[in-house]
Amino acid sequence: MSLADLRREYSLRALRRADLDPDPTTQFNRWFEQAAGFRRSGNLRRFCINLYKSLFLGANSGVPVDVNAMTLATADKDGRPSARIVLLKGVDARGYIFFTNYDSRKGQELAENPDAALVFYWPSQERQVCIAGEVTKLPEAESEAYFKTRPRGSQIAAWASRQSVILPSREALESEWKQLEAKYPGENIPKPPYWGGYVLAPTRIEFWQGRPSRLHDRFRYTKQADGAWKIERLSP
Ligand SMILES: Cc1cc2nc3c(=O)[nH]c(=O)nc-3n(C[C@H](O)[C@H](O)[C@H](O)COP(=O)(O)O)c2cc1C
Repeated sequence: MSLADLRREYSLRALRRADLDPDPTTQFNRWFEQAAGFRRSGNLRRFCINLYKSLFLGANSGVPVDVNAMTLATADKDGRPSARIVLLKGVDARGYIFFTNYDSRKGQELAENPDAALVFYWPSQERQVCIAGEVTKLPEAESEAYFKTRPRGSQIAAWASRQSVILPSREALESEWKQLEAKYPGENIPKPPYWGGYVLAPTRIEFWQGRPSRLHDRFRYTKQADGAWKIERLSP
C-alpha cells in the first residue's frame, strides 16, 4: 500500500455550536476526559470497553497510552520553528502545564520568544485541539513540589541529561547516571536548578472534530481584550 492510499473517513460524531462550553478550559477538560475514557463521549460501546478494562484489568489499563502527549511548537527569535512532544501535567486557570529542562533547545527558544503552540490529537475520538499563547516559567516552589512526585529514575535522569546537548556516546550518559546514583543514594534528590515547569496561557484554542468527506467541524475560541472568549466556526 502506498502512502497516498492511507486515509480514513471520520464519522464518529459532529461538533455543534450548542455543544460548546463558553469557557475553553472547561471544553478542553471535557474532551480530555472523554479521550482518557473517564467520561462518556457518546460512543457507548467504547465507553463500556474502557470501563470494563479499568474495572477488571487494572487501574490504568483503560486510559489510552500517552493521552496527555502534546506537540509543543516553539520558534527562535528569527521565527524559525521547532516542535516536539511533551506531556501535559496540569490545566488550571493559568493555562497548560508541562515540565522540561530550561536549558534545552525548547527552553532556549522560549527564553528568546515566549510565543508557542500546542497540538493534541486523539485518534480514537477523531479530535484535534490546537492551542496558542505565551509561555512563562512556573513558580520554583511548584516545580520543586512536582519534582518530588517523580520516580527516582526520572529525578536522576534530570541531573544526568543536559537535554539537547551533543553526547559523545551512550556510555558517557550511562556513566554519568551511575555516578549520580552513587552521589544520591537516598530518596531525597534535589531538583536541578535548570529543570522545571512552564505554563502556556492560551489566547486561542481550536476544537476540531473529524467529519465525513473532510467536512470537519472546527470552532475557534479567541480571547478578547476584556478577557471574554469569542467563539467562531472555521471552514474545514
Ligand atoms: C511521549 C513523549 C513524551 C515526552 N515528554 C516529555 C516531557 O514531558 N518533557 C520533556 O522535556 N521532554 C519530553 N519528551 C522528549 C521530547 O520530545 C524532546 O525530545 C526533548 O524534550 C528535547 O527537545 P528539544 O531539544 O526540542 O528541547 C517526550 C517525548 C515523547 C515521545
